[in-house]
Amino acid sequence: MTDRYAVIGNPVAHSKSPQIHAAFARATGQDIAYERLLAPPGGFAAAVRAFAAAGGRGLNVTLPFKQEAFALAATLTERARIAGAVNTLRFDGGGALGDNTDGVGVTRDLVQNLGVTLRGADVLILGAGGATRGIVAPLLAEAPRTLTIANRTVDKAYALAADFAALADVRAASAAALEGRRFDVVIHATSAGVRGDDTPAWPAGLFAPGALAYDLAYADDPTPFLLWAAAQGAARRADGLGMLVEQAAESFLLWRGVRPDTRAVLALLRP
Ligand code: ATR
Repeated sequence: MTDRYAVIGNPVAHSKSPQIHAAFARATGQDIAYERLLAPPGGFAAAVRAFAAAGGRGLNVTLPFKQEAFALAATLTERARIAGAVNTLRFDGGGALGDNTDGVGVTRDLVQNLGVTLRGADVLILGAGGATRGIVAPLLAEAPRTLTIANRTVDKAYALAADFAALADVRAASAAALEGRRFDVVIHATSAGVRGDDTPAWPAGLFAPGALAYDLAYADDPTPFLLWAAAQGAARRADGLGMLVEQAAESFLLWRGVRPDTRAVLALLRP
């Protein structure tokens, strides 16, 4: 019998995950079906339970339900616990296992697909919300020279940096405090632009020569952050499509025990 999976979110119609997992399944010879599941606000847990009760084997969880998925999971992987959010659920009978593959998705895209050297690099993350929390530990594992979190509300950047203080000396900064500093990798992790509001006023001159501007969000057209980065002279720019494919591969591995090759799928999505 074909095993069923889905991506659950709201909205979810735009999600490229069904296309990605269908390509993974073809390439690895796995017999799975993967659909989109729109959950109403307040209806996430019920939708998950119904899917699992009908024999569903796993879910990818997208906005705005990653925290609810964290709360719902009966067991958590270590990286999901650190991230405080779950983007992958697996149903093995009994309670759901919650994992978070977003962080490893970002580092794998940066290092393997984009050829970025994180070791020894000065890395800046813009934003201090849930998306940032999920990527700090995997980035630190790559041993950057410095990791700075900047946020509009600077207290949230300090709180987040303090949460990871046991791992490394994570720095926090307001937008104004970034003035005059330069970074090799600048990761945009705010929700600005996703909801159509303007890119906030980060200071000019953040990009070191050869720097990469990386947006966790992806879109068919350049995101507001990447347009801004181009105007700022950032040498390299990438959106989060590669991260999406990499986190999907890690979810697929958790579900099926097989790691699909991501390059062919990336080439398919971004010719
Ligand atoms: P996510 O899970 O996507 O990270 P979140 O936890 O709600 O979402 O966090 C949103 C992040 O985007 C925060 O860092 C927020 O900054 P504040 O903490 O100051 O609110 C940031 N953000 C959202 N809209 C923004 C804007 N217009 N300008 C600057 N930062 C913005």
